[in-house]
Amino acid sequence: MHRIGLIGCGWFAAFHLKAFQSQSHRTNIVWVADAVMESAQRVAHTVGARAIADYREGLSEVDAVVILLPHHLHRDVAVECLRAGKHVLLEKPMSITLAEADDMIAAAEASRRTLMIAYPHRYRRSMQTFKQLVTHEQHGPLVMLDGFMDESLQGYSLGWLSKRSTLGGGVYFSSSPHMLDVMLWIAGPVRHVSMVGTRGRLPMEGEDTAACVIKFESDVIGVTRHTWMSPKSTIWYTMRAMCRDAWITLTTTPVGDLIKDGPTCPWRTRIEVLSAEGSTTVLDSDEGLDLEPEVAHFLDCVETGATPQTSGQVGRQLIELVQTAYRQASQVGANVP
Ligand SMILES: NC(=O)c1ccc[n+]([C@@H]2O[C@H](COP(=O)([O-])OP(=O)(O)OC[C@H]3O[C@@H](n4cnc5c(N)ncnc54)[C@H](O)[C@@H]3O)[C@@H](O)[C@H]2O)c1
Repeated sequence: MHRIGLIGCGWFAAFHLKAFQSQSHRTNIVWVADAVMESAQRVAHTVGARAIADYREGLSEVDAVVILLPHHLHRDVAVECLRAGKHVLLEKPMSITLAEADDMIAAAEASRRTLMIAYPHRYRRSMQTFKQLVTHEQHGPLVMLDGFMDESLQGYSLGWLSKRSTLGGGVYFSSSPHMLDVMLWIAGPVRHVSMVGTRGRLPMEGEDTAACVIKFESDVIGVTRHTWMSPKSTIWYTMRAMCRDAWITLTTTPVGDLIKDGPTCPWRTRIEVLSAEGSTTVLDSDEGLDLEPEVAHFLDCVETGATPQTSGQVGRQLIELVQTAYRQASQVGANVP
């Protein structure tokens, strides 16, 4: 049994707890921690764990921790947990700076513990089917990947999301790497990246809407578009692949209100293939933002010592890619000042 501690009992905690509970044959959630004790107590109650305000008090009782904190806290907490000999599943993005990412990678190597960055999408069953359809080339070689995330944060209290010092940037820094991770996984190393950003409505320092273009060394083109200021999310996440002979489209849509419903929000996920011969639905399921495959992979890596697919190095690579694009955009005035 892996004894688990969860650090950070905010909006996303319920998704992780649901995933760890689905692995209850090999995990036991011992405690949940939050600097705001009422938040820890509210979450602890739902899973029958102990609530603590300071995670350091509980470190000796667990084998692994999941860290769900504002981004500027990731490095210090992860390094402390790794140095204490704990395996770490750390929410994305890994850190705000590359130096912070390096500290975490070094701490994981020194303690010989698993450090995995929580980029869930490549672990989803639907995304694995999508990748197979794209890379097995039964529809011809891949030419372009086009990702779109439509998230509606209008009307919600942004708190630390509104500041560059705590978020790390804007929507492109915080959330577009979900799409970038999948694209790098499918299309390989990047030759060139550029981004543009704007602030449509949200009261935040960084951009609330961003687009990015990538040229991969494989000659594939990648495009991402992402907004947090959507008046109403029409879909949540679409990843399209244009291959020589067909469009392959994966769409994941919340059927309820994702922000209010959390992990109980119902979903619909579809994969469609559109070619000159017509359209075929390859998959139609209720899979949504389900973290179980990601958590299962983390536990497998802890048990076998294997390097996670979304290792510290992968997390660092995504920070570097986003920062490269930010730097170029600021030189030519292509993002918000
Ligand atoms: N994969 C996804 O789709 C996804 C979705 C949402 C959030 N996230 C990530 O999850 C992480 C957390 O996001 P969230 O939406 O739950 O944020 P949140 O603001 O809702 O929760 C953060 C929690 O951390 C607590 N906290 C702050 N400082 C602390 C400290 N020193 N010790 C203990 N607790 C402390 C706060 O009190 C708060 O309860 C972020 O990295 C975010 O990017 C990922």
